[in-house]
Amino acid sequence: MKTIRTTSAMADWSRRLHREGVTIGFVPTMGALHEGHRALIRAARLACDAVVVSIFVNPTQFGPTEDLAKYPRQLRLDRALCLKEGVDVIFAPTAEAMYPAGFQTIVAVPNLARLWEGEARPHHFQGVATVVTKLLSLVQPDIAWFGQKDFQQAAVVRQLAQDLNLPGKLVVHPTVRESDGLALSSRNVYLSVHERKTAPVLYRALQAGAAAIRGGERRGLHIQRLMARTVTAERSVTPEYLAVCDPSTLQPLQTVQRHAILLGAIRLGAVRLLDNVPVTIRPQS
Ligand code: PAF
Repeated sequence: MKTIRTTSAMADWSRRLHREGVTIGFVPTMGALHEGHRALIRAARLACDAVVVSIFVNPTQFGPTEDLAKYPRQLRLDRALCLKEGVDVIFAPTAEAMYPAGFQTIVAVPNLARLWEGEARPHHFQGVATVVTKLLSLVQPDIAWFGQKDFQQAAVVRQLAQDLNLPGKLVVHPTVRESDGLALSSRNVYLSVHERKTAPVLYRALQAGAAAIRGGERRGLHIQRLMARTVTAERSVTPEYLAVCDPSTLQPLQTVQRHAILLGAIRLGAVRLLDNVPVTIRPQS
């Protein structure tokens, strides 16, 4: 397994492999790899000849008061996981390599990025869209994998790849969960013992919303209130948003028709947790 630190070496490596007819699978990450990342890497390993994992804590997607400085960094452990999973290249550039002096381009996907995470974290998706565009241009993957836990991020990335005619296919991999339903996230390590016990309430609330829809409820507001009541039953939880949305536009739905995505974010102490549950209503036969 090779570690590449510079953008030119990354682009050269990918060009050489493509010339040799090798297919490249790509898993972009910010490190602190967990079982969710492992699932993406395994999917890439199965589908492609060579696998690249990027590990880059992207400063431009963090707000000034967010956790950039204390975001978990554990390159040695991440390398061990990648080695075990048969990764060919870890791309771990420095911030200076990705954003050299004079860098000024910004990629924005304003409509999909406006609500939800975009409201809570202004500029976040601009940072994500810009770095993902750079990473995809450097790695030139045949297939890139993103986790469904960050549903809005996946929607933003899908849109930019389509709008900018980026080659390669994007695959969104289902969320990997702990046995009590908590979605895996690198930030779960920040949870105290009590917060960790409480955290699955977000998934329970989203599931309660999905169950209501499957039981015949179609009113967006009603489903949203039901989810909010479930999370606020836990006194230590501050809900940020619980929403019933159209999965392609991420706009709130007044009435659920065929497909909906239930999105949620809560705060538990200093930790923000996100999750989502897709719902499809099967037509009556
Ligand atoms: O989901 C992440 O880990 C990051 O947002 C990504 C896609 C690697 C961009 O920095």
